[in-house]
Amino acid sequence: MSSVHLKAPQFKYAPFSRKQLQVLSWWLDPRAKQFGNLSEVKKKHPEWLNRSDKEVLIADGSIRAGKTLIMSMSYIEWSMTNYSNEQFGIAGKTIGSLRRNVITPLKRMLAGRKGYRVKDRRADNLLDITYNGVTNHYYLFGGKDEGSQDLVQGLTVAGFFFDEVALMPKSFVNQAAGRVSVDGGKLWFNCNPAGPYHWFKTEWLDKLKKHKAIHIHFTMDDNPSLAESVKDRNRRTFSGVFYQRYILGEWVLSDGIVYDNFNKDTMVATPPKGVAEKYYVSVDYGTQNPTVFLLWGRFDGVWWCLKEYYYDGRHSSRQKTDEQYANDFLEFVGKLKVKAIVDPSAASFIAQLRAKGVSVEKAKNDVLDGIRETQSAMNLGKIMFAPGLVNLFKELASYAWDPKAAEHGEDKVIKQHDHACDAVRYFVYRVIRTGGVVKPKVKPKAFR
Ligand SMILES: Nc1ncnc2c1ncn2[C@@H]1O[C@H](COP(=O)(O)OP(=O)(O)O)[C@@H](O)[C@H]1O
Ligand SMILES: [Mg+2]
Repeated sequence: MSSVHLKAPQFKYAPFSRKQLQVLSWWLDPRAKQFGNLSEVKKKHPEWLNRSDKEVLIADGSIRAGKTLIMSMSYIEWSMTNYSNEQFGIAGKTIGSLRRNVITPLKRMLAGRKGYRVKDRRADNLLDITYNGVTNHYYLFGGKDEGSQDLVQGLTVAGFFFDEVALMPKSFVNQAAGRVSVDGGKLWFNCNPAGPYHWFKTEWLDKLKKHKAIHIHFTMDDNPSLAESVKDRNRRTFSGVFYQRYILGEWVLSDGIVYDNFNKDTMVATPPKGVAEKYYVSVDYGTQNPTVFLLWGRFDGVWWCLKEYYYDGRHSSRQKTDEQYANDFLEFVGKLKVKAIVDPSAASFIAQLRAKGVSVEKAKNDVLDGIRETQSAMNLGKIMFAPGLVNLFKELASYAWDPKAAEHGEDKVIKQHDHACDAVRYFVYRVIRTGGVVKPKVKPKAFR
């Protein structure tokens, strides 16, 4: 391992793990190890400060493994050591997640380092970082944000750092990677694994030689700051494909039954008696497809799915109007004071409910996040099910990943028998994930 001393940050940092040290020094020529610190390397062998035989770093693996933190640190160290008055790119899934996961911790980190100055030009999504009379400019991007591809087009950069690259569109990443055209320029990627046919896996990770890339695989054990109890909890949280990807860090296919973690013996029971602390009804609405209401009540901090309504217009003699569904909804909840969480696409039905005095929140329709959160809520005992939810249980047993989509590197579910399952994830994502607090929707500010 490199013993090159990289200006110790004034952090309460746990001593870096072996993998973290690799990330810190991958851009140095391995021969630089013989020197005690960077300024000595600079004096004797400045050409060793930015090796040319490797141009790309890929760190993948489990969640909370210490990838983002060490990569952002190393990226700044590399760029500030080798360039002056140069431009760089940093991308996250969205500008919002980039600021949360990367920029805020990075600024905190640099604030603790003597001599570093960070100017955050928020309106321009630009950071100016200064150290020792050297200033560089870091443009921030949300790979999934609208217009990000156009924005990146005019740029020339010496490096691009992609946090959570597997969540970004391939077109954006290619476009952005192509902007690195300064001598010695480098690409930095990190991500949690997706499926084995995901474009990032097939085009980058499987072609390390072609890209002159170094691959470093992380698991939670490579994060020296994680307590055993935290690792344990993370392990208990995920199951199935998400366990293999987020805990083991493997690029595995999403296939088979989605909720293979659903266990009737432990997750179905008679709910507590009496009035719940709070009620919600989650709704999946269909005109050609079934409409489902699920009643949720909280007892002692645990959310119980108490009752279902399931109406399939196709298999009944008549279809129902929005008004009839709204009346069914009122009958379904009776005297209970509830909030409804409704399929965001059901505009006319939402209007009907509101007209009848029902308080409605629109559900968030991110399928993958919703499924993952639902699995976690099940595994951690945050949600339970009353017996007799016949249609929901049927669906849970047949709701499956789409093998065709998986072959194309996409995680999708088969859109069949998914109505009650949708209602479950609408509820979990809105209520459990946010702890019941629904934040106002902030529109990501596009980079100008
Ligand atoms: N060496 C370290 N010392 C202290 N905290 C660390 C260290 N490495 C990682 N962490 C902390 O562990 C958490 C997870 O790290 P992060 O880099 O976000 O992981 P990943 O990107 O792999 O999900 C963060 O809160 C981070 O600050
Ligand atoms: Mg990360």
